[in-house]
Amino acid sequence: SVKIKPLLAGNWKMNGLRTSQAEFHKMKAGLTDTLADSANIMICPPATLIPALADIAAGSAILVGGQDCHGEKSGAHTGDISAEMLKDAGATAVIVGHSERRTDHGEGDGVVNAKAQAAWRAGLVAIVCVGETEAERKAGQAVSIVQGQLNNSVPDGATAENTVIAYEPVWAIGTGLTPTAQDVEEMHKAMRDNLASRFSDAGAAMRLLYGGSVKPANAAELMAVSNVNGALVGGASLKAEDFLGILDAYS
Ligand code: G3P
Repeated sequence: SVKIKPLLAGNWKMNGLRTSQAEFHKMKAGLTDTLADSANIMICPPATLIPALADIAAGSAILVGGQDCHGEKSGAHTGDISAEMLKDAGATAVIVGHSERRTDHGEGDGVVNAKAQAAWRAGLVAIVCVGETEAERKAGQAVSIVQGQLNNSVPDGATAENTVIAYEPVWAIGTGLTPTAQDVEEMHKAMRDNLASRFSDAGAAMRLLYGGSVKPANAAELMAVSNVNGALVGGASLKAEDFLGILDAYS
């Protein structure tokens, strides 16, 4: 199998004011060369903070990403933000298809697919999220649900450079619950096989993140699972100490 440099990405969700720049300064200050070598590091703040964090991050190893984008470049879409705007503000990537967007805004795979293509059009990496609900897992459908989401949310033309996949079981997000290492391994293997068969070498090299209640205390175990190439972290990305504690699991 290919050697893949992991990505540790933090998703601040709808958290963060201008005062949160102080926490970001702490992350930057705590990022030793060893830690920075062990993984690519990214924070996806609310869009209002992208320019400020991108300025602070300049010259450091920290990347800044968006949490969502519209499919179109510009136009009459009040309240929406295009991938081009995120890029212009200093982002290098954007999360698309997070389960909170799928649920709160009714975004289906087709919308997510269009957003991933919008990200590429703007020169951003698309971080495409997939994951089953608790009911789907209990019904034994977790793998088939996620395979369907991958097939329909990840556009043709995905490469290891323009796309990252994040597996986030909905029931593990913000709950403190995580799947067993064995369940994560099974899912990531199924995703790897799917992507490798569809995208060949690109699919074999694409980064597959795990997300859902990742903390410093469980990061080492989850990150050691085969085909897990990093994490997408919510709550524990808000504090420099927690986020850097997770990064410790990579070095
Ligand atoms: O996108 C990351 C997220 O959904 C996981 O959230 O708070 O469980 O780490 P959390």
